[in-house]
Amino acid sequence: PAGKMWGGRFSEATAASVEAFSASIQYDARLYHHDIMGSKAHARMLARQGLITEAERDAILQGLTEIEAEIDRGEFVFRPELEDIHMNIEKVLTERIGPAGAKLHTARSRNDQVNLDFRLYLRDEADALDALLCETQRAFARLARKYLGVVMPGYTHLQRAQPVLLSHHLLAYVEMFGRDRDRLAGCRQRINIMPLGAAAMAGTGLPIDRESVAAELGFTAITANSMDTTGDRDFALEMLFCLNLIQLHLSRLSEELVLWSSKEFEFVQIGDRYCTGSSIMPQKKNPDIPELIRGKTGRVTGALMALLMTVKGLPLTYNRDLQEDKEQVFDALDTVKASLAITAELLDHTAFNVERLRAATSGGFMTATDLADYLVRRNMPFREAHGVVGRVVAFCQERNCELVDLTLAELQSFSALIETDVYGVLSVEGSVNSRVSAGGTGRARVEEALSRVEQLLGMT
Ligand code: ARG
Repeated sequence: PAGKMWGGRFSEATAASVEAFSASIQYDARLYHHDIMGSKAHARMLARQGLITEAERDAILQGLTEIEAEIDRGEFVFRPELEDIHMNIEKVLTERIGPAGAKLHTARSRNDQVNLDFRLYLRDEADALDALLCETQRAFARLARKYLGVVMPGYTHLQRAQPVLLSHHLLAYVEMFGRDRDRLAGCRQRINIMPLGAAAMAGTGLPIDRESVAAELGFTAITANSMDTTGDRDFALEMLFCLNLIQLHLSRLSEELVLWSSKEFEFVQIGDRYCTGSSIMPQKKNPDIPELIRGKTGRVTGALMALLMTVKGLPLTYNRDLQEDKEQVFDALDTVKASLAITAELLDHTAFNVERLRAATSGGFMTATDLADYLVRRNMPFREAHGVVGRVVAFCQERNCELVDLTLAELQSFSALIETDVYGVLSVEGSVNSRVSAGGTGRARVEEALSRVEQLLGMT
């Protein structure tokens, strides 16, 4: 068909429905910068190998630079009948510079080209995500520093469990996002392998030099098997999984922010600028941003599931199904990046209600474990101590009082091992500060952890 780059063997024009159905330019146009970067490296290699002349190379480089500037300025007209970003650029290049442009695709297929573009793009996105994760960690560290020493209930099963420092809770998220950064760095290593030269799927007979292209583009190695290369989207799936865990962590935080900003908890106040109101209830101030982040977790998970299913039944090597990879990954990237950015902002505009947090530690027998540990230190076997303290708790519940409210005589009626120093361990501060095991919530441990984190994040 007229104008098609692959039209030679066809005798009919492509159906309009086919063009509309198969075009990807609406979404893969965002790869233009990386497509051009890859084409330039490829052209330089072709010239080094004597496959094109230096004059042809220069015409290609010049033409691509101009096209990129036009796309940057929003002046380039994308044509859906040219399917994708690769052919849109190559076609216009050839229209402008003539035969040299038609030599660019020497020893290359869109099958290895699209793999290259996607890897180059995701490598940059991995770096952008890392920067956003770091910003989010810093926001947590700022809060942990600001509220250092504030106590709150720690929960299991959403039931009050043991008193902890608020900073300990906040630093837990720093760890979670730290693992996300590690995971992303590992993913980036596997993204950073150069696929070009696999050509359609079997390699090429032309004397290319893949290593030099890899070096120019900053890849650490070249892919080993051309068939694997053109059918491989593991790196995209892995990126989607990384995105999923990030969003999952954001979602758990969001759930806590939603709960904690309810009247029932009243632990936090999210700044007015980051909340919205109700169109009917004048009193409402709603935590829509955490709710949306929690909600968007569904679409990020959906993207991973969708691409897993797309790749699942594919025979080697390239199949057009693989074109379905990009929209899912782009949407997940956009969603997670936006969620991270707004979370960091929102945290900087979140205030904790120190009195409410403190008050919540005084109900629920949260120092019961400390009483058991007290008995253990006096040589009672832990299981026995657990039983004794359980009976003390039941006794308090009957009387509607807390552990600290019991007299020494009352406590001693449960165990003769109890002495007057017991009140030290029954206090909230005493409980928190006794938790000095590595990684525990004791004040000294949390201060150490916070300093380490601040140093790691370049905040000191
Ligand atoms: N737009 C295609 C994709 O995203 C590029 C590769 C097309 N290759 C092909 N032989 N049709 O996968």
